[in-house]
Formats: sequence, C-alpha cells, structure tokens
Amino acid sequence: MSPRVSGHLDGGRLWRDLMELARFGATELGGVNRLALSREEIAARKVLIGWAGEFGAEAAVDAAANLYLRLEGREPSLPPLQTGSHIDTQPTGGKFDGAYGVVAGLAALRSIVASGRRPRRSVEVVAWMNEEGSRFAPGMMGSAVFTGKRTLAEILSVRDKAGVSVSEAMGPVLENEKHLPRRPLGYPVAGYVEAHIEQGPTLEAQQKTIGVVTGIGGKRTFRVEVKGEPAHAGTSSRRDRRDALVSAVAIVDALQKAIWDDADTVRFTIGMFTVTPNAPSVVPSRVVFAVDLRHDDDATVRRLGDLVPVICGKARGKCDVNVIPLLYDVPLQFPASIRSRVAQAAKGLGYSSMELNSPAGHDSRYLHYHCPTGMVFIPCKAGISHNEAESITPADAEAGARVLADVLFDLADGA
Ligand code: GLV
Ligand code: MN
Ligand code: MN
Repeated sequence: MSPRVSGHLDGGRLWRDLMELARFGATELGGVNRLALSREEIAARKVLIGWAGEFGAEAAVDAAANLYLRLEGREPSLPPLQTGSHIDTQPTGGKFDGAYGVVAGLAALRSIVASGRRPRRSVEVVAWMNEEGSRFAPGMMGSAVFTGKRTLAEILSVRDKAGVSVSEAMGPVLENEKHLPRRPLGYPVAGYVEAHIEQGPTLEAQQKTIGVVTGIGGKRTFRVEVKGEPAHAGTSSRRDRRDALVSAVAIVDALQKAIWDDADTVRFTIGMFTVTPNAPSVVPSRVVFAVDLRHDDDATVRRLGDLVPVICGKARGKCDVNVIPLLYDVPLQFPASIRSRVAQAAKGLGYSSMELNSPAGHDSRYLHYHCPTGMVFIPCKAGISHNEAESITPADAEAGARVLADVLFDLADGA
C-alpha cells in the first residue's frame, strides 16, 4: 500500500492558521465575531485565497459568494471532491466552529501536495456563504443555493436587522474578488466530507479522538411577530393596553410548557427577541422573536413544530400574532460508504473513534442531497460552542485533519 498523504500533514501550520484566521473579528474574550458578508469576513477570505495560492490551489467564487479553493487532480474534467465548512460566526462565536473545517481542508490539500502525489479528481475546499444564519436567517444559505435547495433570488432579498439585504452585503465581497473566476451553481460533485468540531460533550466524555458522524438531526425554525399598540406608560390603563411584550411573554411561557419534555430530548430555543420601540415609557407595540426547535426524530419535530402556530394563537391575549415558518429540515443519515471510509481512516492512523449523530446543523446537510456526504468530528472542550470560550487541542485538530486528508485523497483517487 502506498504511504498515506496524512503523513505529510503539518499540524503546526494548521494550528497557526487557525489562530491567524481567528484574528479577523477577534473579541476581547478570546472569541470571534465575524458575521456573514462582514468586513471581517472579506478580510479573512483574502487570507484563505493567499494560503491556497501558496501551494498552487486556484480560488474561484460563485453567484452566492461561496469561495472555492481547488487543487487540480490528474483528470480535472471529472467532478471534484469537496471539503470545507464556513468562516462566518455567531456574534459571540469561537475560533473553531466552521473555521476548523476550512483550515483543516487546506491542511489536507497542502499534505497532498507535499506527498508529491496527485489524485485523479480535483479536490476543493469550500467556504460556504452564511452557514450560521445569525445575521441573515435562515443559515446554510450558500450550500442551500449551490445544491438547489433554495433559489438565489430568494436568498438575495433576505435582510438583516439593520435592513441590509444579502444582495447589498454581497456586493463588496464579490467586488473584492472580481479578479477570481466565476463558478456556476450546482455543478456535479463526486463527494463531500466536512470536518467540524463536535460542539457537544460526547467525544470528550467518551475519550474518543474522532467522531464518525452518522447524520444530522431535524430542525424547524420560525419567526414570530406579535403586534400590539404603542401607548403612554403613565396614562394608559392595563385594561386598555395592547402590550406586545405581555403577549409575547405569555406565548413564550406557553410554548416552553408545551414543547419541553421531561426526558430533556427536545431542543427548543428563543435566541432572538426584539421589542419595539424599546423605550422605557412606551407600552411595547411590537415584539419579534425567533424559535429554533430540534429533535432527532422527525415525527417529534413535525408534531411540535405544528404546535407552534397553534400555541401562539391561543396565548396571544389582546395582540395579533403572525407566525412565519422559516425552515423545516428533516433528520438525515449519511451513507454507510462515507462513514466507513472515515472510520477506516481513523483506525489506520491509530485514533480512537465512535459513531455519533449531529444535533447541530452543517452545510453537509444540503450537500448530502447533492453527492455522497459525510463528516469528521473532533472533540471540543466541555462541548462548549456558539460561545467565545470554545476550545480544542492542537493534537485533536491535527488528528481530524489527518483523517480528512486520507479520506479525501482516497475518494478523489478512486473510481
Ligand atoms: C449551526 O450553527 C446550528 O445552529 O446548528
Ligand atoms: Mn459550524
Ligand atoms: Mn455554528
């Protein structure tokens, strides 16, 4: 058997690149605030393009501002293998959610070059546009558009809290990268393997280095708008008020009572809540909040999601309520063919591994419907993620990248 390309993987460089990328949007508490299509993200993309250029990978971009870094294979006309993730973060994000998959992908490509071998197929690292969905909801926009799950027109009109549309925010990104070749959306891909931090506590608790991801859990999201009427805090009586905050709080309480289960298997979050006009002496006229509901079992996601508008209607009091469904992603299972490749690669390198499901969402969800897809997880400290304290070890980072490199090379070089 020929030596594995992972033997050429430079773990020191991988770690330095992770730390360097984390400077773009760095927060005082050691995290990263690099929202999708922000100035910080544009600067970080430039760095990625530079790193790829160092070893001869070519950068390209598509109409959804997905960034491709491609190492040409021996038969470049074949559909490429892809890896990658995202480099946008939550406002209080860490250094590794998403960034790890992109930087590990580049480390894998670099190891292939260092090995002196070339696979048949090209291998591309993709930084998908807006995975987090924090600034523009729902997320995984770039991968959704690439795979035809959503249309470009649909995502371009989504606006952030300040009223800026994706189309407007994307302008400076594409302008900055106008020298790059343009890729079409949705071209054929031979396979997609994404490396990511686990974002949960299982691998660390089980003392396993590599997670072979079996699939992704189900998720439904909604935006709830509660409309009342502004009134003077001193002169309007409780009886006469249509206080949107009072109604919204009653709705939230009713939703929690109906949706949270005793076994604690349902994930139900209201992570965004905005009050208008948000002035101390004005009765709130409008509240908008976001519902994020997840479970591994589709029947549960469906049943509980269907309850959301019903409960909002019942608990609305004197206000009007409008429930806008944003997303319904069913649970999915990655193919055994990719899972076994990941498990074999981990075994071949002497790393402990286990299978586990991902309750967190990833771009792999949409790639799964486009080509054979799988994921490699590495442990993160105490399962902490979407938090500036997110932490991983250099050794685990290197292990995940080595597994990724071997899986990518074998898939890219195979039939
Ligand atoms: C991804 O960040 C998610 O919210 O699952
Ligand atoms: Mn992520
Ligand atoms: Mn995330």
